Amino acid sequence: MTTFLPSEGGAALVVVANRLPVDRVPDSEPAADAAATAPEGAERSSTASGQPAAPPRAAQWRRSPGGLVTALEPVMQSEHGAWVGWAGQPDLELEPFDFDGIRLIPVTLSAEDVELYYEGFSNDTIWPLYHDVISPPRFSRPWWEAYVTVNRRFAEAAAGAVAWGGTVWVQDYQLQLVPELLRELRPDVTIGYFHHIPFPPYGLYSQLPWRRQVLAGLLGADVIGFQRVADANNFTMAVRRQLKLETKGNDISVPSSDGGTRFAHVHPFPIAIDTTSYSELVRRPEIIARAKEIREGLGNPRRIVLGVDRLDYTKGIRHRIKAYGELLAEGRIDVSETILVQVASPSRERVAAYMQLRDEIEMSVGRINGTFDSTGHSAIRYLHHSYPREEMAALYLAADVMLVTALRDGMNLVAKEYVAARADNRGVLVLSEFAGASDELTSALLINPHDIEGLKDTIVEALDMPPAEQARRMRAMRRRVFKNDINAWSSSFLDALTRSRERREAQAQRAALSVVDA
Ligand code: F6P
Repeated sequence: MTTFLPSEGGAALVVVANRLPVDRVPDSEPAADAAATAPEGAERSSTASGQPAAPPRAAQWRRSPGGLVTALEPVMQSEHGAWVGWAGQPDLELEPFDFDGIRLIPVTLSAEDVELYYEGFSNDTIWPLYHDVISPPRFSRPWWEAYVTVNRRFAEAAAGAVAWGGTVWVQDYQLQLVPELLRELRPDVTIGYFHHIPFPPYGLYSQLPWRRQVLAGLLGADVIGFQRVADANNFTMAVRRQLKLETKGNDISVPSSDGGTRFAHVHPFPIAIDTTSYSELVRRPEIIARAKEIREGLGNPRRIVLGVDRLDYTKGIRHRIKAYGELLAEGRIDVSETILVQVASPSRERVAAYMQLRDEIEMSVGRINGTFDSTGHSAIRYLHHSYPREEMAALYLAADVMLVTALRDGMNLVAKEYVAARADNRGVLVLSEFAGASDELTSALLINPHDIEGLKDTIVEALDMPPAEQARRMRAMRRRVFKNDINAWSSSFLDALTRSRERREAQAQRAALSVVDA
């Protein structure tokens, strides 16, 4: 077994995620748009012949949207934290660099790694398998081999970055093997893993040809966090059935390399959003003005219905559009009064199931608009774009009804963002019971997206809901979303890691004392 020595001045806290928390500013955009430049983030560029190419350029980066980095920023800055991840482009070799007080450690993925590890095993095997096989998962041995190789690369980068006795927090399904690989390299560190997507029931999970290896990979962590109680239970059940390990309450006894036993603590930690920044955003006069402008731009409809999703087959966009089309056909929605705005941000565009989904959705939208549009009004405004947070906040403010119709979703942060944005206590959230958010947002109008008649009735109910009832429901949901914000979420996970370290140290002390006694 190789043991890694920590680099001098290693970080007390290291986050490992598939992506770095920054996006590269395209060369076409002026430098002024970049949040910062990273002088040390220079590319190690070379030609195919190995000769140095153009002199290294200072890359420009801006922080990518997402609550995780916001939540971790203060603790990462005070603990000299580091973040290990991929910069989002194939074959990009970068030196580590500092950004907003955090050390960023880029992991290089070749074009082949992107195809086999990211598009293949992560997003065409694990993603569909863990989302109720809505699309059939593909099991490919070369994809699995690439997943193992790339997970090892991430584990080695983390092992080289963390200080002696430090903490490493691994994020999500692309990196399920990292906890075990890292523990082999650095038995001194405390390891956490958080799973952002669902963990499937045993009957589905057991289809995975590498089911035992993936469970063993995850069990390398001291704390394994899931979104919902059901996900944590599914994982524990898979461990019992496949690995025959003993479980007691939330703890799993795992044999350790020294012949003893260690504990892996399994717990739900429903992820949250940066609520404060949303409520601050929607109070800005320019965002309120932009919401008005959006409404005017849509022809001042009486009602705006909104859907915001990555273009993904798990989101139930097809079901939503089908229900909406039928409501128009039955005359229960009038195109001159109501419009559906569907933001579908581009995602995983080289994976076949995503290409097919895009074709299907765009064909349905075209048909519905062709049938129901008038010269002055559109039935559906379909936007295949990503937007900055400011524009999203204005859209949320403009929307009378928000549709979240996921067929399966780990959490669905859009639902929480809509609630956080509605400081005016108006608007109605229609929420799938198959999204993790439905455990907390019980005052939403909960739906089963497979039940198209039920979905249609609920959309009509939402459109007709009196303001007093909207306010009652919105207030209850806002209490939940503000109480469990992203800071509360990350603190509860990090506290669980601290308790786990203390428990491990106490166990080691007892073992040392018993040797002395003997
Ligand atoms: O929901 C899981 C997740 O990995 C998120 O963490 C991420 O925002 C999203 O999917 C987008 O994924 P990708 O990195 O494949 O674009």
